[in-house]
Amino acid sequence: MLMNTQKKVLVTGAQGMLGQDLCNILEKEGFLVIKTNRSNLDISDFKVVEKFLNEKKPDLVIHCAAYTNVDKAESDYDTAYMINVSGTENVAKVCSKLDITMVYVSTDYVFDGTKTNPYTPEDKTNPLNNYGLTKLQGEEVVKQYCKRYYIVRTSWLYGQYGKNFVETILGLAKNPEIKVVADQIGCPTWTVDLVKGILDIFNKPYGVYHICGSGQVSWYEFACEVFMQARLKVNVKPCLTDEFPRPAKRPKYSVMDNGGSCRNWKEALKDYLTLIGRV
Ligand SMILES: NC(=O)c1ccc[n+]([C@@H]2O[C@H](COP(=O)([O-])OP(=O)(O)OC[C@H]3O[C@@H](n4cnc5c(N)ncnc54)[C@H](OP(=O)(O)O)[C@@H]3O)[C@@H](O)[C@H]2O)c1
Repeated sequence: MLMNTQKKVLVTGAQGMLGQDLCNILEKEGFLVIKTNRSNLDISDFKVVEKFLNEKKPDLVIHCAAYTNVDKAESDYDTAYMINVSGTENVAKVCSKLDITMVYVSTDYVFDGTKTNPYTPEDKTNPLNNYGLTKLQGEEVVKQYCKRYYIVRTSWLYGQYGKNFVETILGLAKNPEIKVVADQIGCPTWTVDLVKGILDIFNKPYGVYHICGSGQVSWYEFACEVFMQARLKVNVKPCLTDEFPRPAKRPKYSVMDNGGSCRNWKEALKDYLTLIGRV
């Protein structure tokens, strides 16, 4: 169990969408938080990682930094690899050497989406795109180097500190009609709920966990719910992924069995829209 009075937590990617909510909540809970970003801790440089962690000596590292542009990773595998695999390896090696517990945030895109019922942490992985592949390789280096690790797979994240689907959809509300893909099914997750889920795993054994919103939904249904909750009348039409070709292939079905780690996605959405003043 993580005792906040003694715990010094280092967060990588602290200026990212998840990182900002994570640091704010950890601080509110009384943890001593060391916020890092590319300028004070470039994870792709082993010497920098080694020196920084040796100086700060955190009890726990929550590794959120990543190359997250799914489509760009298709034409920029080398950079995605450098950050998601080599960068994670650098963090994992130093955590292992200093006996620091490591949390690695991973993704539903490690799966190929051919299942028809929720993916469990033990299910076979088979990423369809470079982003998913490099995140999976990141999981593998964490397992290889660390004795004390939590791999947390999450999905369809949105939060107030980053560009996300909810914000994009609300920005399209003035259009007379919008089309949204209906043949990709997943679990929307509010960053705040993910942080709470992460705080809850510390009294569980080390290993792989799925932390995402409960329930399942297509992007089309997700968009309809956003407009319904925000009381906006928009003509939303379902369409197929093939109508909007993107560089990276996405799984058709990436619903994960979250073991009850998060509440229903619609309730979370309501709280998020309230927070950002849209309901
Ligand atoms: N967003 C989703 O839907 C989603 C779904 C599943 C899993 N995840 C995972 O959740 C985690 C957080 O995602 P997010 O959406 O919060 O991502 P994000 O907003 O893109 O944040 C990622 C952060 O990593 C930083 N970073 C990149 N390269 C770095 C480097 N070499 N050294 C140090 N920092 C570096 C970025 O800084 P710069 O801005 O300077 O590049 C950025 O602040 C990631 O591990 C991601 O793979 C996200």
